[in-house]
Amino acid sequence: MKDSLHQPVLYQEIIHALQPRNPGRYIDGTVGAGGHARGILEACAPDGLLLGLDVDPRALAAARETLAPYGKRAVLTQASYVSLLSAMQSLGWEAVDGIVLDLGVSSMQLDEPGRGFSFQQEAPLDMRFNPEQGMSAAELVNGAAEEELAQILFRYGEEPKARRIARDIVRARPITTTVQLAEVVKRAYPGHSRMHPATRTFQALRIAVNEELTAVEEGLPNAVKALKAGGRLAVISFHSLEDRIVKDYFRRESKDRVNPPYERLYEVEQKATLKEITRKPVVAAAEEIESNPRARSAKLRVAEKNASDA
Ligand SMILES: C[S@@+](CC[C@H](N)C(=O)[O-])C[C@H]1O[C@@H](n2cnc3c(N)ncnc32)[C@H](O)[C@@H]1O
Repeated sequence: MKDSLHQPVLYQEIIHALQPRNPGRYIDGTVGAGGHARGILEACAPDGLLLGLDVDPRALAAARETLAPYGKRAVLTQASYVSLLSAMQSLGWEAVDGIVLDLGVSSMQLDEPGRGFSFQQEAPLDMRFNPEQGMSAAELVNGAAEEELAQILFRYGEEPKARRIARDIVRARPITTTVQLAEVVKRAYPGHSRMHPATRTFQALRIAVNEELTAVEEGLPNAVKALKAGGRLAVISFHSLEDRIVKDYFRRESKDRVNPPYERLYEVEQKATLKEITRKPVVAAAEEIESNPRARSAKLRVAEKNASDA
């Protein structure tokens, strides 16, 4: 797999955040083509280990190629990062020193003909990260009620014309290809706009089909459970919905939870489990955005696990 297929975003920043060291154990929960994973393996050489997870079998095949030089130091498993605890258990790992989650879709997936992630190429409307599991975007678009579609477009795409587009989709059904759907959406936006009008609709359907926000909500607490005290969790998100979940979770977990006075048996009910390393999200430098436009919307947040008696 060529390096050009997916350029890892905020690469140096991830290495700086996780500070991988020999002989640590690390998890890349969204290993993709293995770009970040390779950096981690380099930094924790010669004996550090990395467990790479991805739900997409094609991404894992690419990662396998990228990480072949590291031999047994890299273990790759097809699984969601939500179930990273059981993936660790099967290796006999109790806790890890660092975890990276680089959320969303890779440029490799966007560019791969036939996956249906992009409205730039004619393809069956699929959009599943794991094409063997769950409902495709075509099934969703052709089977959902108009109201449900409007909700999906509004919530996950922040699409201001969600109702109008949902109505047009229902009228145009069956819709089986990417270009067909993009044309329907375009009708709601006559004239020119900076962004292609289908961008928000495609984002919304992809999030819905892959249940991406639920994965973030469920994955973060599991990732924290998997960390050793002092271990770090680094999360890159690409839109405000994901970033809000990460931000709120890190904020909440970095405060002691105190019982309301009328219930107060002890002064503090639960100590903060995390320390926020990044108060503000880290964003890509201008040079990175120039060479990799995907980096424009990337936001990195990092937190460190506290010792349980902290
Ligand atoms: C932005 S890419 C990661 C790229 C990777 N950091 C690299 O350097 O090549 C996101 C990856 O996460 C995967 N993914 C999405 N949801 C997932 C989940 N719940 N569990 C595991 N992998 C997931 C996608 O299939 C995709 O390959």
